[in-house]
Amino acid sequence: MHAFQFRQDRLYCEELSVESLARRYGTPLYIYSQLTLTRNFRRLDEAWASVRHLPCYAVKANSNLAILRLMADLGSGFDVVSGGELRRVMAAGGSAHRCVFAGVAKTEEEIGLALRAGIHCFNIESEAELDRVDRLAGDLGLTAPVAVRVNPNIAARTHAKITTGTYENKFGIALDLAESVYERAARKKNLWLRGLQMHIGSQLTQVKPFEDAARRIAPLAATLKRKYGIEFLDIGGGLGIVYQDALASGDPFWWQSPQGRRMLTPEQYAARLLPILEPLGLRILLEPGRFITGNAGILVTKVEYVKRTGRKTFVIVDAAMTELIRPAFYDAYHEIVPVVRRRRRVEPCDVVGGVCESADYFCKDRPLPIPQPDELLAILSAGAYGSVMASNYNSRPLAAEVLVHGRRSALVRRRQPVEAIWQWENTAPWQD
Ligand code: LLP
Repeated sequence: MHAFQFRQDRLYCEELSVESLARRYGTPLYIYSQLTLTRNFRRLDEAWASVRHLPCYAVKANSNLAILRLMADLGSGFDVVSGGELRRVMAAGGSAHRCVFAGVAKTEEEIGLALRAGIHCFNIESEAELDRVDRLAGDLGLTAPVAVRVNPNIAARTHAKITTGTYENKFGIALDLAESVYERAARKKNLWLRGLQMHIGSQLTQVKPFEDAARRIAPLAATLKRKYGIEFLDIGGGLGIVYQDALASGDPFWWQSPQGRRMLTPEQYAARLLPILEPLGLRILLEPGRFITGNAGILVTKVEYVKRTGRKTFVIVDAAMTELIRPAFYDAYHEIVPVVRRRRRVEPCDVVGGVCESADYFCKDRPLPIPQPDELLAILSAGAYGSVMASNYNSRPLAAEVLVHGRRSALVRRRQPVEAIWQWENTAPWQD
């Protein structure tokens, strides 16, 4: 069960009404449930209990310090993709020793930072990067732990903008070349061949692509263990969540989709992969992002205007693509519900923000109870790839974020003061 539920006609996050939170902290407002975050993490962790494993929470999904602290307290490691994310993890009290560092464009500065901090492993994405990491480790008199990110060339059958595991995209090293890359790496003095990594895409709702990728990579993992003594296999993230009817389902992971197929659960995911991976005798690393935070967060927004054009009804709200870009960027579906259910006529409408872009919408032609100005709407399943993808476009301040724990709430990101948007700007001297 996730912790966003209606009690009578009011939406609650754990023991607090969303309306009272919006009144207290203002809108647009991100609200996260600590209980949901904790349960999601534990559920995935327990599904893999039969093997030595380390979940490395994918920081990119939601990097709020309070969420990172919670993950560290639950025993999670972290998957970071920049020096900034690594420093965030450390600022939140997490340890670099439990961080894997991915990304195709690691700079010398970032590599140096990670080496000095004692990173668990670099997930290497190219041969040139391997050379760079070796050289920098030599300069520092250190040994760099590395894993090569292998691209298993599996189409994850998810959205085109979030599939990563085929030869069509920039990530990883092709499976057929991987062994020769390890051979080269083994000759370098400052590298420790510690593991093997893959990641095929995000928001996967079927187990088959994961299974195919695991089958494809397992023989390589066995060879690398024998030849170089690698100790882990990192299978990346990608476990999908429910976006449609997320609330009605109560438990977001046991939901019957309109096609009559069940969503992929962490238990099924583990049960189907374990028979392939367990015989390898390697520690398994996981990089879940969306699965942990996706359904643990909502975005609350206030209705400013309702505008009828004769052809369409627009519900205009105080959040926009600047707070949640997923609908504009991926045509993503997010369920939208009133924070307080009232008797309202249901009509197809577009819920839109105030940014000067036609792509600035949260839904199109969706039948919803048409609210009145000042009423609140909740945009669901917004905990992953929501606040982290926010921008200051149109000089809109970043939203506030609140963490709820039972009856308690804490502001974990204060609303950005508007002057902070231009605090690093100035006029040129000749303009004075
Ligand atoms: N590991 C690697 C190497 C990744 O590239 C990603 C996500 C993850 C783990 C975590 O994947 P997850 O478990 O969250 O699916 N902004 C997009 C999603 C981009 C995912 C990028 N990589 C969205 O809003 O759907």
